[in-house]
Amino acid sequence: MHQAASNDRCISVTMATNTRTPVALVTGGGSGIGRATAVRFAELGYSCVVADIDEPSAKETLRMLKTPGIAVQVDVTMATSVEAMVTAAVQHFGRIDCAFNGAGILGASGRIVESPEDAFDRVMDVNAKGVWLCLKYEIAQMLQQEPVMSDPAKWAEKPDVCRFRGMGTDQ
Ligand SMILES: NC(=O)c1ccc[n+]([C@@H]2O[C@H](COP(=O)([O-])OP(=O)(O)OC[C@H]3O[C@@H](n4cnc5c(N)ncnc54)[C@H](O)[C@@H]3O)[C@@H](O)[C@H]2O)c1
Repeated sequence: MHQAASNDRCISVTMATNTRTPVALVTGGGSGIGRATAVRFAELGYSCVVADIDEPSAKETLRMLKTPGIAVQVDVTMATSVEAMVTAAVQHFGRIDCAFNGAGILGASGRIVESPEDAFDRVMDVNAKGVWLCLKYEIAQMLQQEPVMSDPAKWAEKPDVCRFRGMGTDQ
C-alpha cells in the first residue's frame, strides 16, 4: 500500500494490494501543478495519462516519469475532446483509478472595468466547466469498473465523493 503525505489528500488514493499498476489521469499535466502531480503519481507507482491542450508539453512531462504513461491532447472545454481523452486512457490502460483535474488558466489580470467579458467566459469555460466535464466522463468510466479496494469493508458499495478523494468515510 502506498499513500501520499496526509496533506496530499487528493492524491492519497490507497493502492490495491494486488500487483496491477494503478492508473492516474492528470489534466493540465504539461505544466505547473499538473506536471508536478504526474511526477508524484509516477513516484508512487501509478501509470499516468498526461493530458494537456499543449501536446508537446504533455510529452515532455511523460519523459520525466518513472512509470509508463501516455500523452493525450485534450481541450477540457469540449465534451467530445474530454470523452476522447477518457477513451484513450481506457484503450491504453483498461481503467482509470484516479484523476487530477489540474488544467486551468489564470485569465486576464487587471481592473474589472477594463476586463473584456469574453476573458471571463474563457476562465469559466476552462476552470469551471472544464473540471465538470472531466469529472462527468471520468466518473462515468469509474462507475463501469470493478472497484480496487485494499479494505472493502471500509468503503460503501457504490463509489462516492469520499472514495474518489481517497478519504475514509469516517473522516
Ligand atoms: N500555481 C499556483 O500557485 C496557483 C495557485 C492558485 C491557483 N492556480 C490555478 O491552478 C491552475 C493550474 O495552475 P498551474 O500553475 O499549474 O498553471 P500552468 O499554466 O503551469 O498549467 C496549466 C496547464 O493547463 C493547460 N491548459 C490550459 N487550458 C487548457 C485546456 N482548455 N485544456 C487542457 N489543458 C489546458 C495548460 O496548457 C497548462 O499546461 C490555473 O488555473 C491557476 O490559475 C495556480
